[in-house]
Amino acid sequence: MLTRIPGTGAELMVLILQRLQGYNAFKHIRLPTSDYGFLSALQQELLVEEVINIIRQEAIPLTFDGDVKFLNFSAFGRQGPTFISLVRDPLDPRIWQWKGKESMLYHGAISHFCGQEPRCMERNNTWALERAKANVIRWYPVVGILDYMEESLNAFATEFPYFFNGAINIYNQFRSKETLPTLVTLKLRIKDASLRRVLAQEVEFYQWLKSRLLNKTFNNDD
Ligand SMILES: *[C@@H]1O[C@H](CO)[C@@H](O)[C@H](O)[C@H]1NC(C)=O
Ligand SMILES: *[C@@H]1O[C@H](CO)[C@@H](O)[C@H](O)[C@H]1NC(C)=O
Ligand SMILES: *[C@@H]1O[C@H](CO)[C@@H](O)[C@H](O)[C@H]1NC(C)=O
Repeated sequence: MLTRIPGTGAELMVLILQRLQGYNAFKHIRLPTSDYGFLSALQQELLVEEVINIIRQEAIPLTFDGDVKFLNFSAFGRQGPTFISLVRDPLDPRIWQWKGKESMLYHGAISHFCGQEPRCMERNNTWALERAKANVIRWYPVVGILDYMEESLNAFATEFPYFFNGAINIYNQFRSKETLPTLVTLKLRIKDASLRRVLAQEVEFYQWLKSRLLNKTFNNDD
């Protein structure tokens, strides 16, 4: 299950999965959109049951994507899917200005991986950072990074060959048609020192995810 973070290239991942499903004999399912906010306990339970019901009805392997933060299936007595997600350099100013069709401003990657508790939204909260890291270690074998798309797709293909076999070729097709947004290539950085202090934990989390991804990419045997 791809938990989408707005503005990080997750829609590109959805396109890649939709293209791959025919080749690799799985089915990709988009969960209905929510408001990107927190889900109440009841909403979480309904979503968990919806996913479980879809899995029961379908005879082939499935992938899902949804605009949801990490959702703890175990809390509802269900076996959780394997999660994946995509992040982006928090010091790239464009992510904080991002206003797509849902006009949602980015809240940072920590709150996304931390989950459905209001404490997860507090800035510079060490508890939220540690919870986010623990959830990544437990539930997200690979977290891709928009700024390292090829390494990310290779890591996904190594970890989930059934689903991601050929992903890099499809990515290259998109790229050669120049349908990819320039955001992948144009490098911008926040220079304001006080803003950098506010983002200190987001930067720490991003660096941690980056070394985890690149370690995996270059050390495929561990
Ligand atoms: C998920 O739910 C299980 C079972 O209730 C609980 O033990 C675990 O701490 C929860 N994890 C998170 C990250 O909420
Ligand atoms: C956030 O925490 C870091 C170190 O943990 C600190 O340097 C920074 O000033 C804090 N920022 C805010 C806005 O509290
Ligand atoms: C990356 O690999 C180095 C050396 O193997 C290790 O010390 C470090 O903890 C790894 N980092 C992560 C985030 O897994």
